[in-house]
Amino acid sequence: MLTESEARDAIIVALDCDRDRAMELADTLSGKAKWVKIGMTLFYLEGPSIVREMHERGLNVFLDLKVFDIPFQVRGAVESASLTGADILSIHGLGSSAMVAAAREGAEAAAEKTGRDRTRLVAISVLTSMDQDTLGEIGITCPLSEEVSRLASLAVGAGSDGIVCSPKEAADMRALLGPDALIVTPGVRPAGAAVGDQKRVATPAAAIAAGASKLVIGRPITQAQNPAAAFKAIVQEIAAD
Ligand code: C5P
Repeated sequence: MLTESEARDAIIVALDCDRDRAMELADTLSGKAKWVKIGMTLFYLEGPSIVREMHERGLNVFLDLKVFDIPFQVRGAVESASLTGADILSIHGLGSSAMVAAAREGAEAAAEKTGRDRTRLVAISVLTSMDQDTLGEIGITCPLSEEVSRLASLAVGAGSDGIVCSPKEAADMRALLGPDALIVTPGVRPAGAAVGDQKRVATPAAAIAAGASKLVIGRPITQAQNPAAAFKAIVQEIAAD
């Protein structure tokens, strides 16, 4: 069972919106949430300064850029992204172990330059908006859980601190990767919340029970009539579980 403080630390609020709305949400959630996620929607609008602004508001940042390219480019991209001070950064597991190792080098190079803690890396396994059918569409015909396991082992073996997977795979991934791996799960929906484009979903309590380290939750909080109340209800659900 999580304490209330641990529960608040386990939730990453995805700010998939413009700067004004992101700042409004950051202010609304100030003193309650500990983490926000800055994804491509916000980062491509605002750039590195948005990471600093969230830090200035006392929020830790998961920079979800899903970096995916040849190793040389990835080393540089991850170094640049780490220089923003992001606490966690996502890369793609599909880029191979050489790409993940290059990402780790980039993160280490940035930490050496700044003297700050190294940005932790999490590798995307299979997007939570995908299921077995959509995986087939891109030519991957093995069972989805096998694909997640393969990419998770590959990424952590090559230097990633953890992975991103759906809550449905979190228990298997915790068993596979051990207690120290960072297991981040999007696709989290409180009972009754709209699922939208997500396909492999579970409730916050189920995700925590399965061994997730952090839950990424966007629309169920950011599009709620009262985001602070929605955040609080999720904290209560996982702290009480
Ligand atoms: O609004 P919702 O809760 O669906 O937001 C989930 C967030 O998690 C989005 O910002 C999305 O980019 C991100 N994400 C995901 N699936 C992954 C990795 C990240 O949904 N595999």
